[in-house]
Amino acid sequence: MQLNPPVRWGIVGCGWVARDYVAPAMGMTLLARLVAVCDPGPAARADIEPWNPALARHADLDDFLATPGLEAVYVATPNHLHRPLVERATRAGKHVLCEKPMATTLTDAEAMVAACEAAGVRYATAFDQRFHAAHRRLRELVATGRLGEITAVRIHYACWTPADWSPIAGQAHDNWRVDPARAGGGAFIDLAPHGLDLSQVLLDEPLTEVRALFQRRVFSYPVDDGAALIGRFFSGALLLMNVAYNCPDHYPRRTLELIGTRAMAIARNTMGQTPGGSLQLVDARTGETEEIAIAPEEDRSPFAVGIEEFSRCLRLGTPFPYPPAHDLHTMRLLAAAGANPS
Ligand SMILES: NC(=O)c1ccc[n+]([C@@H]2O[C@H](COP(=O)([O-])OP(=O)(O)OC[C@H]3O[C@@H](n4cnc5c(N)ncnc54)[C@H](O)[C@@H]3O)[C@@H](O)[C@H]2O)c1
Repeated sequence: MQLNPPVRWGIVGCGWVARDYVAPAMGMTLLARLVAVCDPGPAARADIEPWNPALARHADLDDFLATPGLEAVYVATPNHLHRPLVERATRAGKHVLCEKPMATTLTDAEAMVAACEAAGVRYATAFDQRFHAAHRRLRELVATGRLGEITAVRIHYACWTPADWSPIAGQAHDNWRVDPARAGGGAFIDLAPHGLDLSQVLLDEPLTEVRALFQRRVFSYPVDDGAALIGRFFSGALLLMNVAYNCPDHYPRRTLELIGTRAMAIARNTMGQTPGGSLQLVDARTGETEEIAIAPEEDRSPFAVGIEEFSRCLRLGTPFPYPPAHDLHTMRLLAAAGANPS
């Protein structure tokens, strides 16, 4: 199907995720074209597609939003700015894909969705991991009954985030992640949304309750550096998840397991920003293991696949598979478990 012209995208916030994943992803799909960026930092603006003289680079949000033909905005700023920026973009009539967590509070997340509804524009949260090829295959395996009845999902998603953490080792970085006002919390608010969203996507059913214990174990900054979560899905399957900023990067720390009555699935290093990793099944009767091969052409940047899907839905006027209500439900689970309950 001919979908030309591509959706004309802009990015607000030109830091790590925008530079390393979002902007490159927009260059990987014919359905999207990056036309403008906005960031108060001249160096951050210059680092996005430095070879592209046609890219409009703005410090001022109104100038950015006035970019001719701009249709959709990808919000990639620190978390506390998601709400005001989404509200400004939607008032200007732009569709929005916003980084996770939706916002630092449930109240802000609800206001963002209300603003999009009032403006008649599309909103989605940019959970890239939904679109990882191994996760899409895993979702099919669950849906076709290959794993049998799922009894539990176990996730370990962790990293090493000292107070002076920087995405580029040795380079100074404003680590807003450990500032409660700008991040909305620590490891829990940063990392748990991924697992909560992904597990509900894979099982195609909601979590009905989630509880959490928090720790400030290794680092002295004023946010949690780890959390343990338990949850229950609608069907009765259980979730066990450990997220952490205090896990050395050399350890195995990105593991997703789905335990079923016919088979267990183990995905290693598939949670994150990049394609790759591995997916293995263990047969319940024989104990034999099977590697699930992902074809190289399927194993694309999960950001590119997500942006492509959102762009396709905009062009065709079809629903995005994950509506705002899905993301608000996840925000309610986070709030109920202890993150910024307001
Ligand atoms: N999906 C993922 O795996 C993933 C990975 C990393 C970050 N994220 C999310 O992406 C967002 C950004 O994280 P990051 O690591 O790229 O942060 P970062 O600190 O590297 O970059 C943030 C950028 O926002 C800019 N900024 C600040 N105020 C602004 C404003 N008013 N208008 C425009 N730009 C402004 C900063 O100058 C900076 O360049 C966060 O919400 C984070 O949770 C998601």
